Amino acid sequence: MPLSIRSSLLCICICCLLAASALAQRASAPPAGALTADQDQHKMMDQLGIKALRPGPSGNEKAPNHANIDESKANPYPNLPDPLTMNDGRKVTTEKMWWEERRPEIVEMYSKYVYGRVPSSVPKVTWTVTAVDHEMIGFTPVTAKDLIGTVDNSADPAISVRIHMTLVTPAFVKGPVPVLMMFGRAGFPNPNEPRGDDLNRINNAWKALLLQQDPSLKDVFAQHPAWEPLKESPFFQRPDLNEDGDLPNIWQLIGAGWGFVLIDPASVQADDGAGLTRGIIGLVNKGQPRTPEDWGALRAWAWGADRGLDYLETDPAVDAKHVGIEGVSRYGKAALVTMAFDQRFAMVLVGSSGKGGATLLRRNFGEAVESLTGGEYYWMAGNFMKYGASEASFGVGSPGDIPVDSNELIALCAPRLTFISYGIPEKGDAKWLDHQGSFMATVDAGRVFALLGAKGIGVEGDYHTAKMPPVNTGLLDGQLAWRQHDGGHTDAPNMKWFIQWAGKFIGHTPPQ
Ligand code: GCU
Repeated sequence: MPLSIRSSLLCICICCLLAASALAQRASAPPAGALTADQDQHKMMDQLGIKALRPGPSGNEKAPNHANIDESKANPYPNLPDPLTMNDGRKVTTEKMWWEERRPEIVEMYSKYVYGRVPSSVPKVTWTVTAVDHEMIGFTPVTAKDLIGTVDNSADPAISVRIHMTLVTPAFVKGPVPVLMMFGRAGFPNPNEPRGDDLNRINNAWKALLLQQDPSLKDVFAQHPAWEPLKESPFFQRPDLNEDGDLPNIWQLIGAGWGFVLIDPASVQADDGAGLTRGIIGLVNKGQPRTPEDWGALRAWAWGADRGLDYLETDPAVDAKHVGIEGVSRYGKAALVTMAFDQRFAMVLVGSSGKGGATLLRRNFGEAVESLTGGEYYWMAGNFMKYGASEASFGVGSPGDIPVDSNELIALCAPRLTFISYGIPEKGDAKWLDHQGSFMATVDAGRVFALLGAKGIGVEGDYHTAKMPPVNTGLLDGQLAWRQHDGGHTDAPNMKWFIQWAGKFIGHTPPQ
């Protein structure tokens, strides 16, 4: 071969190799245009004219910049926005005025300034039952369905969103059952295992494979003819008890004749600012960063729960009029947001939700607004960052400027069943969560429950004066309920109280 042809072939080869390696690099790198959380946050700050944000405090009580835990300094803005006064000053005195005027006004403020709006153009979700498993939870046979909600991504095929949830209902209860949807990892709770002949066939196949891999194992198998690679699990396995010694939440629910759903928030939207150009938020924005009123992760997770409820409304095993939503910590916030915005949910168990959940945004105790505008900015609407601004084209922003507070978020749930749950700092439900602030919000929200013919938590005084009840004292007589258990950062010790309380109001009796 003449030299020139050889060298041009060599050249082509090198070019091909370079091109291939560039392609490989692109495939393993984040999608084009992907931003880090920090870059994304700064882009939003630019849109809002914010130059600097006040830093959030530390949760470590020994750190020099620790969060305030001195009650005497906790109320720099002592007066809350009034859920029963219109923005133009008129008093809300009738149910009609609440439903037609004040409630929409509060929803609008929350959408615009706090959690963001669900865009009108969110694509359709199609639910598919991917597998049905017949399992046992405790001594109760259940039907477990694994479900995927595929979001139509024809607008941006590079972004795929598949909502994952699992629905578990007692198998032999007559009629549809109430269901508690819980934010957390989806998946079969207690997969049915092959037994008897099926297990024998699997074991024979295993042994054949092992022999293929190592023929000398023939002697070992001959010496231990009864040995099987896989053994039957015991029919009954001791459950891991809740930290209060009660049965696991899902055992309690099934035992009481409820169903439950596990819905995976991460399958809707990543828990990360870098993920905002993907997930459902990214899909609607075609991979572009958010604008200031766009939804944050909390509203996106709540939207995922709404779509989950769409499916439940089509499933005959479910009493869709009695579906609740539950979550702890950031998912406690998401549960409260879900309940506040989607009135089809009949009840909520809000576990240790703190700032951005049941706790007053205005309070300066534990976690601060500056935490939610800092590293946690992506949970909220971009606009919310204004309240943490220390230098901006509009000056500064502060928690006192937020036009709503969580007494109103809880009020949006009225008159439906709303249970605010906490544990205690000594066991790990940190002061960071501001139990007192959540109690004050709950007290005040009670006025809206009362206006709508329901009952609040029934304490004396108003949010300035009412005293938080002792630990383990449930205020469970009304549709709005409060209980601080003596466990940690979990709502498990309140599950049995929730089941009894909700059961009483919806007229559900556990199977005998
Ligand atoms: C942090 C965060 C809280 C959140 C919690 C959690 O403490 O500041 O807002 O609730 O994490 O979800 O575990």
